[in-house]
Amino acid sequence: MRTTLSRYRNIAPQHWRFLANRHDRPFIDPDLGITGLHFNLSHTNGLVTCIVGAIEEIGVDVERRDRDGGLDELAHVVLAPPELVRFTRLPRAAQPEFFFAHWTLKEAYVKARGMGLSLPVREICLDMASPQPTISFATPIDDVPSRWRLWSLRPTEEHIVGIAAASAGEPMSLNIRQSCFIDQN
Ligand SMILES: CC(C)(COP(=O)(O)OP(=O)(O)OC[C@H]1O[C@@H](n2cnc3c(N)ncnc32)[C@H](O)[C@@H]1OP(=O)(O)O)[C@@H](O)C(=O)NCCC(=O)NCCS
Repeated sequence: MRTTLSRYRNIAPQHWRFLANRHDRPFIDPDLGITGLHFNLSHTNGLVTCIVGAIEEIGVDVERRDRDGGLDELAHVVLAPPELVRFTRLPRAAQPEFFFAHWTLKEAYVKARGMGLSLPVREICLDMASPQPTISFATPIDDVPSRWRLWSLRPTEEHIVGIAAASAGEPMSLNIRQSCFIDQN
């Protein structure tokens, strides 16, 4: 994350300092005097994803889609009722892809909000029928769906990445860079 942030401002990686909000969301220490630069990160076995932007409300999540079992129980905890109907109608082999695409976008959204899983994810409903997914909220979540842009990416065979960013109306674009860790030891 430090190396990535240093691509965007003239600060050496070791000089970045971070604070965290009460839900543990890290942010750049305001005492560094950096404005207009925000980030979020997610990691799982085999992939780290960092998102950097000028928008404060950005979030990212990565999951492996080959994670074992328990999807039926998890689906009842994570998916909104209309999503659960779509999930149960799918052939077994298509369910993991559907589940993790929804899960990563929901987690990206709650991370963008900076509140983590204290937000009830079943109250978030996604429509992924078109290439640009859309979001809606049940009453407990006080938010405006049209603020959000969502991306669901497949950077490797094993991984699904969800990205959420809130816009103040300006157009947004996503630049994707992939790096490979080189173990120098
Ligand atoms: C944030 C959260 C969803 C992360 O889920 P995860 O799938 O286990 O982890 P990910 O790899 O996707 O993300 C981890 C990274 O997200 C960031 N992060 C941590 N808390 C965050 C939050 N609330 N919002 C946004 N980003 C957060 C950190 O950079 C973290 O990196 P680290 O593990 O190296 O410190 C989960 O840990 C959570 O809900 N935390 C909130 C806990 C909370 O609300 N605590 C207060 C209790 S009242």
